[in-house]
Amino acid sequence: MKFSTIILVALIRLAVAMPAYESLVGLSEREINEFIARNGVAPIPNPPAPLPAGQNGLKLVNDAAHPFMPQGNHIRGPCPALNTLANHGYLPRDGVARPDQIVTAVMEGLNLGNDFAKFLAYQAFLLNGNPLTNLMSIGMKTPLTGPDPPKPALVGGLSQHGTFEGDTSMSRIDAFFGDAATFNPTRFKDFLAFATKFGVNGSYDVNAASELRFERLQDSIENNPQLVFTSPRILSAYSEAVFPTVYFVDGRLNNRQLSQEAASDFFANQHMPEDFHRQPAPVSFEVIEPLTGKLFSDHPFVPGVNHGKNNYIEMPQTPALSDFCGIYRDIALRVVPGQYPNPTGALRDALNKNLGFLFGAVSFQHNCTQVFPYGK
Ligand code: HEM
Repeated sequence: MKFSTIILVALIRLAVAMPAYESLVGLSEREINEFIARNGVAPIPNPPAPLPAGQNGLKLVNDAAHPFMPQGNHIRGPCPALNTLANHGYLPRDGVARPDQIVTAVMEGLNLGNDFAKFLAYQAFLLNGNPLTNLMSIGMKTPLTGPDPPKPALVGGLSQHGTFEGDTSMSRIDAFFGDAATFNPTRFKDFLAFATKFGVNGSYDVNAASELRFERLQDSIENNPQLVFTSPRILSAYSEAVFPTVYFVDGRLNNRQLSQEAASDFFANQHMPEDFHRQPAPVSFEVIEPLTGKLFSDHPFVPGVNHGKNNYIEMPQTPALSDFCGIYRDIALRVVPGQYPNPTGALRDALNKNLGFLFGAVSFQHNCTQVFPYGK
């Protein structure tokens, strides 16, 4: 190894331990990620710790240190929150990030609880990221994540349909009909119409979320011949329906009622409202799960798939929405091995590490048993 390379590697090791968006001796996080992608392997830092007491409260987050910049030709994808965080520089603005950077960004920018942030980030990373370079696109597949591990690994980024991205979204169309990752104004009009019809003072609240989530499933059952609504998609669909009632509401108000104006700013403009303050305390499973539970009890469903339009075949043998540990097991034992059937060497080590991080996130508030698809 050349001396300059040794220095760079040392800097990377140092830099990965630093808060996500800070630069180090002239190297931005993005430049470090680009270096890693070019070199094909990367150190895997441990997941970030929770924000320390005293730094985990109410805070202005649309601040001078995080100016909005339009995405330009950078990568954006199906998640309005991650797109917004990238536009404000909480994530690398090019839209390629390490999972630990995503954990830090959602903790800092929206005050997600540490375990919840890790659950989302490591789940997405195992389905859509590159375990060798430790990089993931928050949108479409890109060479910026470095050389791919062998197929059937997809390394498709968050826009990859049928992984984390799935059917019945609230502001995107189903993949059967076209681009499922890009904001769809017509779809979003329905979102606002449901707020007007069902929400307190026209806000997007839990009642609006409940009716919209039900309608989106019914609509896809009727019209999408290839609808898939099974684990793990069912969990993300229900969680994402309630996220905006929590994390997109200004923390000074914190009434779980999202104004249509603020909703439009996040979803359509991928921009934090002016003067936006994050939640006053970290918000995790203990708040989100009762809300998704309400949505489910308002309109229960059985997971299933369409075999042609309006021909929904229920699959009660797959994990139900309420079976959190079942969904964790399904991800670890079916979904991840589907892309990585026989990993060896560094790839296997990286997968095991990330599976361990995922379990660390679920074990904090759920009494699940750890599973090991590739042995201990
Ligand atoms: C922490 C890591 C996160 C990851 C990896 C992630 C990933 C994703 C992905 C892949 C989708 C597309 C799912 C679909 O097909 O609809 C999505 C949608 C969504 N995400 Fe995120 N997300 C994260 C955090 C958040 C947070 C903190 C919020 C807070 C508001 C959020 C809000 C949403 C919403 C509202 C949607 C639904 C969009 C729609 O249905 O049209 N996400 N996210």
